[in-house]
Amino acid sequence: MWDYQTLMAAYEVARRLKIVRFAGVVSAGKEARVYRAIGKGGVEYAVKIYLTATAEFRKSIYKYIMGDPRFEGVDLSNTKKLFFAWARKEYRNLRRMYDACVSVPRPYLVYQNIIVMEFIGEGGRRAPLLKEVYEELDEEELMDVYRQVVENVKRIYCCARLVHADLSEYNIMYLHGKVYIIDVAQAVDLNHPLAEQFLAHDIGNIHRFFAEEAGLEIPGPEEILRQVTSCEDVQCECRVESRQAEAQ
Ligand SMILES: Nc1ncnc2c1ncn2[C@@H]1O[C@H](COP(=O)(O)OP(=O)(O)O)[C@@H](O)[C@H]1O
Ligand SMILES: [Mg+2]
Repeated sequence: MWDYQTLMAAYEVARRLKIVRFAGVVSAGKEARVYRAIGKGGVEYAVKIYLTATAEFRKSIYKYIMGDPRFEGVDLSNTKKLFFAWARKEYRNLRRMYDACVSVPRPYLVYQNIIVMEFIGEGGRRAPLLKEVYEELDEEELMDVYRQVVENVKRIYCCARLVHADLSEYNIMYLHGKVYIIDVAQAVDLNHPLAEQFLAHDIGNIHRFFAEEAGLEIPGPEEILRQVTSCEDVQCECRVESRQAEAQ
């Protein structure tokens, strides 16, 4: 399944992170596969590998990379280069969010078409997506999930200065009462010409899901947008102490 170069890249990633084995496919999407990998001492990683550039993918990512200075000079017709740039973009977006204390998997490394991050799950199984779990939650729990999601969108906007641009119940995981935002490759900087449009779309998705599917009484999309972009009461320098502790 892996081409030779991806296999070599996986070896290099395994060497750097002391991964002892790849323990199965967590998800096989259209472009990327996500694997669970085990490192020394049993630490688990999620390893996302970009493998297939469908025509649809090329078309759909175009609007995210137009106007992004990080893509200047990348030959978009070259699949390999496109994936390397796309994986790098995902890693950097993840890093920016993580550093801004957004609840995202901790990023570990990007190498060629491979991104390694914290594995969200337990007992060897990934955590459910919000879409898969919300029907089991009661109203109070759902309200808490809603608040966490808005808080995270606010941090992404106000602190990481990004817009997720593909936010929905399919890109939010849920574990022990906590939400994790995933799949951030397409996130754009606030300077991107379509940033506002993407943000309105994300908030529209969030509103639709919580109001219509989860049946919560929540403010309308305009009010949520206002809460997010007001950037009131956001403390952005939050990971400093925990990151210092991690380094020790
Ligand atoms: N850090 C992670 N830990 C555990 N599972 C993950 C992680 N990241 C992604 N997954 C799983 O892999 C799936 C696909 O990942 P995602 O980043 O959303 O890629 P895609 O572009 O294929 O949607 C997710 O729906 C989730 O089930
Ligand atoms: Mg996804």
